[in-house]
Amino acid sequence: MTDKTREFSSLNSKPASFKKYATRVEHVKKIVIEHPRFNEAMKLLEEVHELSKESVLAEGLFICGRTGVGKTTFLEHYLERFPRQEMDDYTKVPILYVKVPPRAKSPKSVASKILYHLGDIFFDTGTEENMTGRIQHFVRECNIEMIILDEFQHLIDRDTQHVLALASDWLKTLAEEIQIPVVLCGLPESQRIFEHNEQLDGRYSNRIFLEPFYFSSPEEQIEFRMFLKYLDAELPFSESSNLSDPQLAAKIYYFSHGVPRYIKDLVKEATKISLRQGKDCITESSLRDACYRITRSSRPYALIPFDNNKFDLAEWLDVEDKKNQAFIKESQEEAKERRRRKKKKATH
Ligand SMILES: Nc1ncnc2c1ncn2[C@@H]1O[C@H](COP(=O)(O)OP(=O)(O)O)[C@@H](O)[C@H]1O
Ligand SMILES: [Mg+2]
Repeated sequence: MTDKTREFSSLNSKPASFKKYATRVEHVKKIVIEHPRFNEAMKLLEEVHELSKESVLAEGLFICGRTGVGKTTFLEHYLERFPRQEMDDYTKVPILYVKVPPRAKSPKSVASKILYHLGDIFFDTGTEENMTGRIQHFVRECNIEMIILDEFQHLIDRDTQHVLALASDWLKTLAEEIQIPVVLCGLPESQRIFEHNEQLDGRYSNRIFLEPFYFSSPEEQIEFRMFLKYLDAELPFSESSNLSDPQLAAKIYYFSHGVPRYIKDLVKEATKISLRQGKDCITESSLRDACYRITRSSRPYALIPFDNNKFDLAEWLDVEDKKNQAFIKESQEEAKERRRRKKKKATH
């Protein structure tokens, strides 16, 4: 991914037409950057997939990371290479991708969703055992090579030992019966599933922890700036936006904490603003205005770094941190005071 000749024409200072606007915004949404850590993870997924074709005891793969780090994007990128194919008498489904529904009550709800995606009209009926048997049947019928369960934490959201034990037993049985890899993907807390079943733990020795970008060491800064450089090269403008400039990168880091979701949201909004203004790149003022459109309730003390020449990453992070600490302390003291008053009232 080196600098390529840009395929988008100049707007010549005129606001983009509606059609151009829609196409270019859509283009931004679809950009996927294959950065080195992304490719490394891809190789491991590929390996688990390929090795299973030669083995009777398929290995599993566990992928985790906080929200917005790019788990689903990563999986969808791999899936694109293996589309469903209509054969003469059956549909070939090389990889079955299923999102565990929120508040999944039990493994049965997951089994049912798998059956639904396979076109089983009785997806909602039968015992858990019976459903697992039908999944096994479809795996053979549709030539499924791998199953991916995304949003896996939903199955074990309710933190009871009972739920965890049920889920881990079911997964172990499923993996044994279908003999293809079952890839589990979810928030870091979904790892708890392995504490309950040593055999499952052993089967999932392949684990990928997807991390956000960091910006402390020189190496981390280079990695983050490379990501921004690739992103910049893919943007739907005729000119570079210089996103990887050290100071601009530091500002983007401050805004996003290195989480791809926030970077992408910022760049998408800034693209819209620039397109409306007839600009041929993203500027600091489009980034600044984009910030006003993105609400971040999780960061009440964050300031807008763009178009501000007083920005200093370490100092600003420190100030925000101190304000957060002070807020926590104040809330704790308020709660203490409330408890004290309540106690006093009760003794009177
Ligand atoms: N490698 C990447 N390149 C470009 N954008 C990415 C990348 N990874 C994630 N994103 C963006 O971040 C957003 C959140 O990613 P997502 O895959 O939904 O995260 P998760 O599933 O971990 O919560 C998506 O809009 C996606 O476009
Ligand atoms: Mg996701």
